[in-house]
Amino acid sequence: MHSSNGTIPMKLVSLIAVAAAAALVAGCAGVERSRNLGDPKVSGVTIAQQVCSNCHGLSGNSVSPNFPNLAAQTQPYLAAQLASFKSHGRRDPPGYQYMWGLSRHLTDDQIAGLSAYYAQQTAVVQPAEGDASRLSLGKAIFEGGIEDKAVPACNTCHGDKGQGMATFPRLAGQHADYTLKQLMVFQRTDQRPDGAVMKIVSHGLSVQDMTDVANYVQTLP
Ligand code: HEC
Ligand code: HEC
Repeated sequence: MHSSNGTIPMKLVSLIAVAAAAALVAGCAGVERSRNLGDPKVSGVTIAQQVCSNCHGLSGNSVSPNFPNLAAQTQPYLAAQLASFKSHGRRDPPGYQYMWGLSRHLTDDQIAGLSAYYAQQTAVVQPAEGDASRLSLGKAIFEGGIEDKAVPACNTCHGDKGQGMATFPRLAGQHADYTLKQLMVFQRTDQRPDGAVMKIVSHGLSVQDMTDVANYVQTLP
């Protein structure tokens, strides 16, 4: 299942709905309430564990590259993205298909709780993917940019190990498919208006450059 061709397991969405309905039928009031995204009394941690975990994993380490890893992502970046989905600022297709509805009723407190929860999780180290002989090319872009294409080094904003800082997101250990897809979104669309700087950064990158750097950052611990 590769996200780069736009295929998204929509089946999963209905599966989750079925699971939620089953909990209702079972009459388990606690679980039912905690899965209710419209209840401001439910804590961010509970929502993370009961709802978001279906796609992003219990600890924010997701199995499918369709769902970005959230573990150890920076708290301010997570909060900013959730606010942006909620206000319909971020509108790349998987973003609105999945995250608009899920974020619609989140309160500021819940967004703060969710962001803090994922920021505290430990990121699982990912295996290398793609052509191993090209990893050094990805590393060179990450650490030095591409001078004759006016591409700046990624580590100046995303941290020397890709760990992120404030609203500069962590890239280390992110699924390469997801990273590549986002680089395309920044370069070719205006679907992530908060990423205006990334439009400039990614302007000169070829698809091969994007693939190389995406495969490289996936391997960063
Ligand atoms: C049905 C699956 C699904 C569920 C459940 C889900 N998400 Fe997502 N989420 C996605 C997908 C798909 C994306 C990638 C969107 C894109 O490509 O723009 C995403 C993206 C995100 C992002 C952006 C990550 C980044 O690196 O920019 C955040 C933050 C996020 N989700 C948080 C949450 C939270 C919090 C919840 C629970 C309220 C949640 N998600 C529930 C599917 C899901
Ligand atoms: C001048 C600072 C700057 C530089 C240099 C930079 N970035 Fe970014 N990048 C950002 C900001 C800010 C965001 C968050 C955009 C948003 O909020 O939508 C971002 C977001 C991203 C994302 C989205 C992450 C996610 O979880 O959705 C990717 C992927 C990314 N950058 C890759 C790169 C790569 C690869 C390079 C090097 C070629 C690079 N960036 C260089 C500032 C920078």
